[in-house]
Amino acid sequence: MSKKTEKRILFVCLGNICRSPLAKGIMQTYLERDGLEDYIKVDSAGILNCHQGELPDPRMRAHAIKRGYNLLSRSRQVKSDDFDDFDLILGMDDRNIDALKELAPSPEAQQKIHRMADFCQRIPVDCVPDPYFGGASGFENVLDILEDACKGLLEYLKNNPKG
Ligand code: 4NP
Repeated sequence: MSKKTEKRILFVCLGNICRSPLAKGIMQTYLERDGLEDYIKVDSAGILNCHQGELPDPRMRAHAIKRGYNLLSRSRQVKSDDFDDFDLILGMDDRNIDALKELAPSPEAQQKIHRMADFCQRIPVDCVPDPYFGGASGFENVLDILEDACKGLLEYLKNNPKG
């Protein structure tokens, strides 16, 4: 990947306290491992604003830290300006994707929206399921899926530096 390349990626879920902060934490870890953190920037946001300013959910943080991801981001709501500031906007499920399409300020902006699960290579899923109202296995499942998707996303970015 060219040293000049800079790509900005926004992960989006419903509350920005479980799935998208984890996606950001995993991806940041992989980028730092591969020395790409200056060229690919990541952030996360939520469709809702009801957790504004909060740390990620304590359950999500507890499961993530066991795999080495210390999640310290603060929840914020996605905004239409994000479509100017980011190159790729990745939704965790179809509900997120529909809300993002409504928010997109133009057809060109809509093209930036993709499904995170489409980057999975090992686990065959079509969404990253919402763990909020479930138990521990749901959080572990989200970790498994997002580690797989982040690996696939990183490979995609390395192979398509201009894409
Ligand atoms: P997330 O999970 O979208 O992965 O952050 C949720 C967090 C909060 C709520 C729903 C899902 N909620 O209804 O408050």
